[in-house]
Amino acid sequence: MASVMSFPTRIVYGRGAIKELPNELKRVGASRPLLVTDKGILQAGLLRFVAPLLEQAGIKAPIFTDFAANPTDADALKGIEAYRAQNADSVLGVGGGASLDMAKAIALLVNHQPPLAQYDDAKGGDARITPNVPPIIQVPTTAGTGSEVGRSTVLVIDGTKTVIFSPHLMARAAILDPELTVGLPPFITAATGMDALTHNLEAYVAKGDHPLADAIAIDGLKRIAANLKKAVQNGKDLEAREQMLLGSAFGAIAFQKGLGACHSVAHALTPVAGTHHGLANSLMLPTVVSFNRMAAEARLAEAAVALGADPKMSVPERAHLCAEIVDDIRVACGLPRKLSQAGVKREMIPQLVEKALADACHQSNPRPVTEVDFERLINEAF
Ligand SMILES: [Fe+2]
Repeated sequence: MASVMSFPTRIVYGRGAIKELPNELKRVGASRPLLVTDKGILQAGLLRFVAPLLEQAGIKAPIFTDFAANPTDADALKGIEAYRAQNADSVLGVGGGASLDMAKAIALLVNHQPPLAQYDDAKGGDARITPNVPPIIQVPTTAGTGSEVGRSTVLVIDGTKTVIFSPHLMARAAILDPELTVGLPPFITAATGMDALTHNLEAYVAKGDHPLADAIAIDGLKRIAANLKKAVQNGKDLEAREQMLLGSAFGAIAFQKGLGACHSVAHALTPVAGTHHGLANSLMLPTVVSFNRMAAEARLAEAAVALGADPKMSVPERAHLCAEIVDDIRVACGLPRKLSQAGVKREMIPQLVEKALADACHQSNPRPVTEVDFERLINEAF
């Protein structure tokens, strides 16, 4: 049986990479991009990195910020109205996962009819998405989601996190400049960084054959293990920030192979308990890694080495250690270890189980996950 691998997005990276933004816009014929960014970015003054460059290049970029921290389909409809009202010809996402996902959803709606629910990947919606999507340029200001190189946008539709997935939603260029992540507070650095770690780890152990994704995931794990704590402890450490941006992008490149049960629970935790996505993954990952050990021992042993385990240890020892190393990293970053310490209530568990089971990510988990398994995993992490 034939398999498919593709190496995706053009990535411009390094200190000062943002200066290439006008050139990247021109390269794809974007002369009036809708700048999609959240209010936090505006308040943090992060547009100072972008606005003068656009102005110097004579590029007018009307700004759209009217969407929630976990954007909804209704937010995307407001976005497409702004796109049309402003006569935009392209979309420029600047921000964390919410801004970058919103940028993709708006770009999709330019030539695709609402409602967005019809493009739900879990219901085969990808088949309805054509290449007729305007150019998207993405500039991340967090190192976590990797949405800048991903093919999916995650929107809350009818109270459920819904994944819309298509290669046509990929950015024409992603610009990774560590200077833009310097101002992130320690908690956001830690939580988003744990999201990136989870992407690499879940992709590496996911079912399916994808040697390209595997190699990228192992490299991503190494970069994150070596740099996440540094970036949390000293936000101005530009080298650590740059490595985290790469680790984050690599995670999202790798998860074209698939994710796993940890993301299914995380996708339930955000709408039910309001948990930050990265924190949600961090809270669940060691428990899910232990659960997967019997199905993915050799891979977890390899991942453990990338995360710092001694390669001379036996495979079972290293596979066992993997969950502990992940736990150590989150503790070193100052994150809580239990769902109950992060505002999750016991009475939420039935709803979490139901939503996690309905989420598509666990389809590629190396060990099949039943309703009873999800209940056990969530109780263990509680
Ligand atoms: Fe994620």
